[in-house]
Amino acid sequence: MQTTGKWVIGNWKMNPGELAEAKKLFLGARQAAKKYPSVQVGVAAPFVFLSELRKLSVAGLVSLGAQNLFPEALGAHTGEISPLMLKGLNVTQVIIGHSERRAAGETSQEIVAKIKSALKYKLTPIICFGETERDEQGSFLAVVEAQLEEIVAEIPATRLKEVIFAYEPVWAIGSGETPAPDEVEEMRLFIHKVLAKKYSRPVASKATIIYGGSVSKNNAALLLAETEMAGFLVGGASLKVGDFEGIIAAAAKSDKKSR
Ligand code: PGA
Repeated sequence: MQTTGKWVIGNWKMNPGELAEAKKLFLGARQAAKKYPSVQVGVAAPFVFLSELRKLSVAGLVSLGAQNLFPEALGAHTGEISPLMLKGLNVTQVIIGHSERRAAGETSQEIVAKIKSALKYKLTPIICFGETERDEQGSFLAVVEAQLEEIVAEIPATRLKEVIFAYEPVWAIGSGETPAPDEVEEMRLFIHKVLAKKYSRPVASKATIIYGGSVSKNNAALLLAETEMAGFLVGGASLKVGDFEGIIAAAAKSDKKSR
């Protein structure tokens, strides 16, 4: 995994409906990635599109991702997709523990097994977590801490830098609302603090933490200017070529500033 440049990763979720549209979107992302080479652009597409998108990802401008995996390599698991199969398609990243999957019944135990499997097969897990709601008393921090503690259970210190932590407050996903930039930055500091409790401080400081939840071409620049987030996981806006490019452009600009 490269360690320079901001991440902008599109999570297409269960979209688009047709391969032709998927190709168009992917090519749009590829063009934007070419224009802003300092940004690490990724696309997490539905499984069925991956083998075709692989053909378009030859130049490596956009890293190819999946949205889930089954922790075993092979076997009697009807309907599941294994890390081995994903590796065979040049997939390099996989979203794990997205709130939409958690809401559909995915358990912490399953999430931990998937993280372990992704690391075993050298796929970068993009691990999602975040509170469902915020309260004045700040008890959402304990929720995030508990999720994080579960997540890191099977991540040894030596592998921490191979992981992407995607902080996604559930209330911000698809709602058009985001936390204020200072709240996002507070959370980043908090996440690093929680990680430092398990790992040493220097190890924790190397962790890649990105933000997700209603990121748009209008709020991306501010969210990066006022936080030290390493980038974004982008849902809705990754389905519009111009919007996705706008976010990538904002990430490129913020990189220049931080150098
Ligand atoms: P959103 O989704 O950008 O549409 O809010 C983000 C996500 O669910 O990863």
